[in-house]
Amino acid sequence: METQITDSVFDAANFIKKGGIVAFPTETVYGLAADIFNAEAIANVFKAKARPNDNPLIAHIANLSQISEIALEVPKIAQILFNKFFPGALTIVLRKKETVPPIATAGLETLGVRMPESKIANRFISACGVPLVAPSANISGKPSPTTWQAVYEDLDGRIDCILKGETSKYGIESTVIDVTTTPPLLLRRGAVTLETLQCYIPEITAYEPKEHEVPKSPGMKHKHYSPVAKVRLAKANDNLSVNKNSAFIGFTVPNAAFKKIYIAKSDEDYAQNLFEFFRECDRTGIDEIFCEQTVENGIGAALMERIRRASK
Ligand code: TXA
Ligand code: MG
Repeated sequence: METQITDSVFDAANFIKKGGIVAFPTETVYGLAADIFNAEAIANVFKAKARPNDNPLIAHIANLSQISEIALEVPKIAQILFNKFFPGALTIVLRKKETVPPIATAGLETLGVRMPESKIANRFISACGVPLVAPSANISGKPSPTTWQAVYEDLDGRIDCILKGETSKYGIESTVIDVTTTPPLLLRRGAVTLETLQCYIPEITAYEPKEHEVPKSPGMKHKHYSPVAKVRLAKANDNLSVNKNSAFIGFTVPNAAFKKIYIAKSDEDYAQNLFEFFRECDRTGIDEIFCEQTVENGIGAALMERIRRASK
């Protein structure tokens, strides 16, 4: 298949209308979209990414009125969150309508819904005229793409179109919370922090799958975010034993000879650059990447969740 690269949201939307699959920019990471009501197109999304078929997709909407097309009901808490955080980097798990094909949610009765704040994402979803399902636009297990070139690297020849846009502002995926349970559960950390959510839902709890339990967010059990290079955790001023193909990302300038270094100005900057740094290391034959640990609150907690998963 030939992959067309465009900066026209209308050209990109035409592929969706014809049942195709299209990568597009969002403020978190790039997504790979299909019409939520087209089961065949959704199957092609799973195929293009080599995504395990038990991992549900997130619905992306352009305006609040689209929620009633895909969700059975909107609990009061969800309404509060819509008002406060939509559009934004927050995915809210609701009970799904029967019109949404089971393949979209890997058979679950619930559906994650998100309204991206990125202008180009919003114009693209609007032009499609339907809600879109969109996982991150990478081969499953690899670091999520934050540039259109990273999408191209993984998916050229496997998808119909790439809608070009800017580098993703946050660089890590949306926060996922499930409001179908009492108390509501934080399933994945992201740019909207737990501390911020607690201002509106004090009872929200971070979900930790117990050993041997099937995780509530099926994506949590899969290998994720991993470059080919080995990822290792490091503390500031650790005495690291490095080889000639080692790389470092963090805040503290290390006193060892690394082939590649990224010094971040803040947790936000670290998060925005992490996945692209991983990819750049793979492009240049790095075999181990030391990631300096950060304090686990705010976006730092979301960042550490990604780094820890990548290091497994
Ligand atoms: O920022 C994002 O959310 C990006 C952009 C493209 O919007 N999308 C994204 O999708 O990260 P994906 O498929 O890579 O991750 C979706 C995560 C998975 O961990 C999945 O298990 C969880 O959300 N998820 C989706 N639907 C769910 C549901 N109904 N219940 C529980 N977890 C769900
Ligand atoms: Mg993903």
